[in-house]
Amino acid sequence: MSLRYNCLFLVDSVAALGGTPICMDDVCIFCTEDFFCYTDRATKIGQLISSYLEKKSNLEDHTVHLLFSANRWEMVPLMKQKLEQGISLVVDRYAFSGVAFTSAKPGFSLEWCMNPDMGLPKPDLVIFLQLNPSMAANRGEYGIERYETSAFQRTVQQRFEELMQDSSVNWKVIDAARTIEEVHNDIKLLSEDIISLAENQPVGELWR
Ligand code: TMP
Repeated sequence: MSLRYNCLFLVDSVAALGGTPICMDDVCIFCTEDFFCYTDRATKIGQLISSYLEKKSNLEDHTVHLLFSANRWEMVPLMKQKLEQGISLVVDRYAFSGVAFTSAKPGFSLEWCMNPDMGLPKPDLVIFLQLNPSMAANRGEYGIERYETSAFQRTVQQRFEELMQDSSVNWKVIDAARTIEEVHNDIKLLSEDIISLAENQPVGELWR
């Protein structure tokens, strides 16, 4: 396992934040080059997923789950390269969203959903932005894409809560119903702590 000098953490949520930029000092989460966003819609796999999310095409449920996972794996060499260069990565959604969303569909277990993402770089910190589905529905452009219904989001929320029982992952929950400044401040404090703790630690493997 390689050594690196900085840390990987991610911000996850039930529903979209409506594109709200969250700034951490001079690092604006939505415009830094060290920000990875899943789904990465720029790749060929990401375009297939994007067309599915925009309801322009249909994909079988197992197939789309595996595509979401492949979309993460295709970026792993770049993520590792950056970590080895001492760069901290902020990731908007990751395998936890992959599992929470697919397992909210009938007939999908958490275990089946976790399998394709086993071994991904493990985040040092996972920040879950807690927002109830009805408040999320009032945020920008909610309801346009697939999955953006309150009933489905409520099931996704339950799946996230099940995932948070896993104490091998460093989960922190932040109340996202407050002001941008308050949310920013909490994220900043948590990030500063984890960046210094994770320095020079090996990159872990998710769910292994
Ligand atoms: P976004 O709203 O953050 O752009 O995410 C796109 C949608 O795709 C969102 O509804 C969550 C869902 N999703 C999955 O179902 N599986 C995944 O692996 C990821 C990353 C997102």
